Amino acid sequence: MTDLSQRTTLTVWPKPAQFFHWLVVVLLVIAATLGFLANELDLSPAKLKLFVTHKSLGLSVLLVMLLRITWRIFSSGPRPVEGLSPIQQKLAGAGHASIYAVAILLPLSGWLLTSAANFPFRWFGLFEVPLIWPADSSVKDIALGAHKFLFIALAALVSGHIAMAIRHHVLGLTVLSRMLPKRWSAANFLYMLGVIIGIVIVFSWFSAHSISDSMDRTMGKGAAQVVAPLHNVAVSQAGKTSSLLNKPPSWVMQPASSQLGFVGSYVDSEFTGKFERFSPRIIFDPENLASASFDVTIDVTSAIIGAPDMDSLLGDSQWLDFAGFPSAQFIAQRFSLVTTNFVAHGLLRLKGMEHTVDLLFSWNEQADGAVRLLGEAVVPRVVFGIGNGAWADDPSVGFDVRVVVDVWLEQSGEQ
Ligand code: HEM
Ligand code: HEM
Repeated sequence: MTDLSQRTTLTVWPKPAQFFHWLVVVLLVIAATLGFLANELDLSPAKLKLFVTHKSLGLSVLLVMLLRITWRIFSSGPRPVEGLSPIQQKLAGAGHASIYAVAILLPLSGWLLTSAANFPFRWFGLFEVPLIWPADSSVKDIALGAHKFLFIALAALVSGHIAMAIRHHVLGLTVLSRMLPKRWSAANFLYMLGVIIGIVIVFSWFSAHSISDSMDRTMGKGAAQVVAPLHNVAVSQAGKTSSLLNKPPSWVMQPASSQLGFVGSYVDSEFTGKFERFSPRIIFDPENLASASFDVTIDVTSAIIGAPDMDSLLGDSQWLDFAGFPSAQFIAQRFSLVTTNFVAHGLLRLKGMEHTVDLLFSWNEQADGAVRLLGEAVVPRVVFGIGNGAWADDPSVGFDVRVVVDVWLEQSGEQ
């Protein structure tokens, strides 16, 4: 940062410094207001959206603070405020430096928090922000504590900073006008500041109430939810359906190398999860589709995403309802061939509902006789009552969940 002795000629802060200063003020006020508002809400689409905006604004603060600090390193500020003692000048300098440090650490702690919680998000919906830490609930708890503490520290520092700016103005020192465009009078600015703070308080109060009212309405509608008709991925070029007389071989899974995963999305960011326990009974011969069958039992309670916050919710009755419906089953007895791939047209029983689901898969025979089955099915979550209430008709949690199968099979003795 520039040395005080370098600040010789200037009597006001140059335009870039003023721009960065007031931009950060505006971003911080909105980010903090949204942080509090979002925190007040129960988990809902509205809460998720507010948090995405909160995080996007917070990261913008980080970016502007970094630009601002770079500008300050290479440019001169104005000369010291006349009428302040050297001690007061040092204190003001230390106060500004602490504000810089905390205003950078605060968004960093938020970024760490959201990364350790494994909650990816898109910056104002435009691009996916990289996560800076692997999922870890203890790091998440530390980052959360730091985020709250740093916010209180920043609020305290900025309150002191504003109080001093007003005090010096009242004492007749030219401080406030150094940070304002030439044509603005400091008195008018203070008047405007009072009005803006009033508006922000009234707006926050009303938004908090209108958001919670609209949530109550949506939850009420959700209770009488009507299950939408199923939109299947109809892969219907049923080509040759083999009907050889021989019963095709049955296969056993090699659990260590097999995976049953799923890919969902929330506020346009993808998340992945898996079922740790599932057992398929597979009878299949690519040349004899007529006699093939799949019967897969899935231990729903073994579902895991790896994001502590999401995992703690997965078993809720609103989502997978572990207690009510601990297992799911996919049964397919009709198979078709699509170019070199296959489709298993089956019934999925999940969360007490039963609907047709098509699994598109490839059957990859290995040199040692084993087979790798790679497949994908689209499961419309609403049809199975997954994410009911306010989530049922809200796109912030994607309506389609992709189930991804990667299973290694060995031929069993039985036919
Ligand atoms: C510098 C700008 C920021 C400010 C002023 C700010 C302020 C706040 C505030 C006031 C809360 C509510 C805390 C409470 O009620 O106790 C909050 C929560 C939160 N913030 Fe920020 N934040 C900022 C940046 C960020 C960033 C950049 C991220 C992530 C990328 C983030 C992620 C979060 C999360 C996830 C929560 C919820 C914490 C919880 O689970 O309770 N924040 N923030
Ligand atoms: C409405 C609220 C605010 C008022 C009235 C205000 C007023 C001022 C004034 C008058 C100065 C010039 C001081 C001087 O010439 O020595 C200043 C500088 C500064 N203010 Fe604020 N401020 C406010 C909010 C904030 C906030 C929220 C931050 C947090 C990032 C902040 C950070 C700084 C910093 C770091 C400086 C030193 C100049 C620089 O490096 O850009 N201020 N502020």
